[in-house]
Amino acid sequence: MNIAMIGSGHIGGTLGKAWAAKGHRVTFGSRDPESERMRALLESIGPNAAAAPVKEAAAFGEIVVLAVPGTEIERVLEEVGDLRRKIVVNATMLFDGRSADAEVRRLANGARVVRAFHTLTWEALANPRFGGANATLFMSGEDEEAKQTVFRLGAKAGFDMVDAGSTEAMAEIEKALFSFWTALSPQFGRDYAIRVLRRKEAQPS
Ligand SMILES: NC(=O)c1ccc[n+]([C@@H]2O[C@H](COP(=O)([O-])OP(=O)(O)OC[C@H]3O[C@@H](n4cnc5c(N)ncnc54)[C@H](OP(=O)(O)O)[C@@H]3O)[C@@H](O)[C@H]2O)c1
Repeated sequence: MNIAMIGSGHIGGTLGKAWAAKGHRVTFGSRDPESERMRALLESIGPNAAAAPVKEAAAFGEIVVLAVPGTEIERVLEEVGDLRRKIVVNATMLFDGRSADAEVRRLANGARVVRAFHTLTWEALANPRFGGANATLFMSGEDEEAKQTVFRLGAKAGFDMVDAGSTEAMAEIEKALFSFWTALSPQFGRDYAIRVLRRKEAQPS
């Protein structure tokens, strides 16, 4: 697939690298696509990755991943232009009481928004394999087809994908994961993950 990665930092760089390695074509949307940092990132990824201004990258992507600071959501969504029918994957977080999920769904006009890739640290995204198990990655969204596409994209990159079921359920999961984070990070640092053990597999594969 053609994937636009808006943001090439910890999250964008990590996911872009993983998907390019799986054969997807990744274009990073950047304020400075010619920068030294971008050049080094592209070199480390290889021929499936390129960089372009944000709007150009978004036009290229069948899937547009938002991996920018939450405070930049509005600016970036203004810049990307027409997202109608595209799948927008929202990995951003806001820490000011607003919901990054609600903000993106409000501002990404006509896009099929899927909330995903925000419930693990970038270290766990970079290597989701913990012993014999893959880390669980929660997702949510209202468009079933878009969710299935993102589900498969995540599963192929080694994540144990779990559909939260609803926006409200995802918000509850985020709160719970924040509590886990507060309780566990003094002991395990950033490189740990949660795995949901279940007997019933409800999601498509
Ligand atoms: N780090 C984590 O473990 C983690 C986990 C879950 C969720 N998240 C969320 O994921 C998002 C990205 O986090 P990160 O750690 O990857 O941040 P980061 O390393 O600071 O990278 C942010 C990226 O966004 C780009 N950017 C900023 N403003 C932009 C704009 N107006 N237009 C285009 N690009 C812009 C930056 O480009 P420049 O290089 O040009 O500044 C940079 O590539 C955040 O919302 C964060 O809360 C992070």
